[in-house]
Amino acid sequence: MATLREILAERLAHALAAAGFSDAPAEIAPASDARFGDYQANAAMILAKKNRANPRQIASEIIQHLDVAGISDPPEIAGAGFINFRLRPGFLARQAGHLASDDRLGRTPAAQPQRIILDFSAPNVAKPMHVGHIRSTILGDSLARIARFLGHEVISDNHIGDWGTQFGKVIYGWKHFLNPEALETDAIGELVRLYREVNALEATDETVKKTAREELVKLQQGDPENHAIWLRAVELSWREFQKLYDLLDIHFDERLGESFYNSALGPLCEKLAAAGLAEVSEGALCLFFRDIPALADKPAIIRKSDGGFLYATTDLATIEHRVQRWDPSAIWYVVGAPQALHFQQIFAAARKMGVTADLRHIVFGSILGEDRKIMRTRSGENVGLAEVLREAIERARVLVTEKNPDLPAEEREEIARIIGLGAVKYAELSQNRLTDYVFSWDKMLSFQGNTAPYLQNAYVRIRSIFRKLEGGFDGKAPVQIESPAERALAVKLLQFAETVPLVLEDFRPNLLANYLYELADTFHGFYEACPVLKSEGATRASRLVLCDITARTLSKGLGLLGIRCPEKM
Ligand code: ARG
Repeated sequence: MATLREILAERLAHALAAAGFSDAPAEIAPASDARFGDYQANAAMILAKKNRANPRQIASEIIQHLDVAGISDPPEIAGAGFINFRLRPGFLARQAGHLASDDRLGRTPAAQPQRIILDFSAPNVAKPMHVGHIRSTILGDSLARIARFLGHEVISDNHIGDWGTQFGKVIYGWKHFLNPEALETDAIGELVRLYREVNALEATDETVKKTAREELVKLQQGDPENHAIWLRAVELSWREFQKLYDLLDIHFDERLGESFYNSALGPLCEKLAAAGLAEVSEGALCLFFRDIPALADKPAIIRKSDGGFLYATTDLATIEHRVQRWDPSAIWYVVGAPQALHFQQIFAAARKMGVTADLRHIVFGSILGEDRKIMRTRSGENVGLAEVLREAIERARVLVTEKNPDLPAEEREEIARIIGLGAVKYAELSQNRLTDYVFSWDKMLSFQGNTAPYLQNAYVRIRSIFRKLEGGFDGKAPVQIESPAERALAVKLLQFAETVPLVLEDFRPNLLANYLYELADTFHGFYEACPVLKSEGATRASRLVLCDITARTLSKGLGLLGIRCPEKM
């Protein structure tokens, strides 16, 4: 099913061709001011600028060829030459009627599906997960869901940091002061403790420093004992990560951590050197980017003078592997802004290596505490995702109990989980990913404003209408548009299909979140103006259909953000 925008754009393209302006863009945008209609086109203004002509004159020429009978009122020229469209109620009713029986709510899958590798979450073993991992995890999962919904093939890969200098310290600590019980109950906590304690010792004790470094070298050389410790540390950490992913309903197709690429690093360096792409400088093997002004004085080291490899080496091996194994059209990395230089370098290197896939670094800002500083716990530590989720569910439980004290305990737990997790995810996804945002429990759990509970509550209210309905409802009745509130709701519902693809243009789930918020608002306006259960006959049936589509759109849209809707709350 074509979207409203596509239908108008197609008519506009015809008119432009017929008027002899085939080089103008047939672009349609939602009207910036609802008083002037639903959609607008600025083609006349673009043409006028190009040809030094009068835009209103050109607009009227276009309009003469514009056939939108049955779709829109006669288009009007406004301002400096906008062409405005006000859609006809009959047309809107018919289009909205199609949504009633369409699981995809009007969004057809992409005509040219892509294969996309999505690299997100990627926490580090034996290091505290930081707020950046929380953002990456939630953002990445939502982008995966949206891309899949749009018909793309997504391969999600959790590139965990399971190799690195931290393991020298962890192994030293493991051998000298491991607490086995703590390892069983809180593996990551215990590994982080070992890491920190050794770190502290190293500051004053040269022998510890030396021994820890030797442990690392032994691990890298395949020493069986150290390898076994490393493997266990990774598996125990993964078990904890997995618990969080399960709770969040986040799944990965692959989990190829840094260690997976160990054996590829040496040969890759040799290959790059042999091809003349890498050169030795002060003993280290480096990639220079002299042809790229921004990177001209920023070479990337891929092999240190002592033979050690770096983060960049692993990422290049990773790209090589991904290209060979999947031949993707794109690879997306959801990683915080501090790694921007790293990605510029490895993308530039990959291009030199002949990689043609579209490589994207999807950056994001920080999460701030209510004091507007980088979020930390009271003791100054990084805030763990596990604690955040636990607290979210706890707070949601209190809210649900207040609102609905008679719910059976099990149902209450389930609802608290849906609301708590939804609130955290939505707080992230409703923000512009580039800006820092303040993490506020009260705000994100509020039933008012642009929050998950507000949207979930709108869904629940609609579902309760259907529970009150005697004789059931089969979802099928012609939609009628009689009042402005019904009209506004129909337009909004039909805009779901054109909103979802916008998210991927610049990786902004907040566009979908904002849409859902506006939809819920529009629905409330409709619900106040148009009685549903108290109306009769065809009007009542039509309003029920609109309610049903709204509930399905809210649930589908929140689902694309990784958020569930409870039936009660
Ligand atoms: N483990 C890294 C970190 O915590 C993120 C990895 C992102 N993915 C990648 N291919 N570099 O900073």
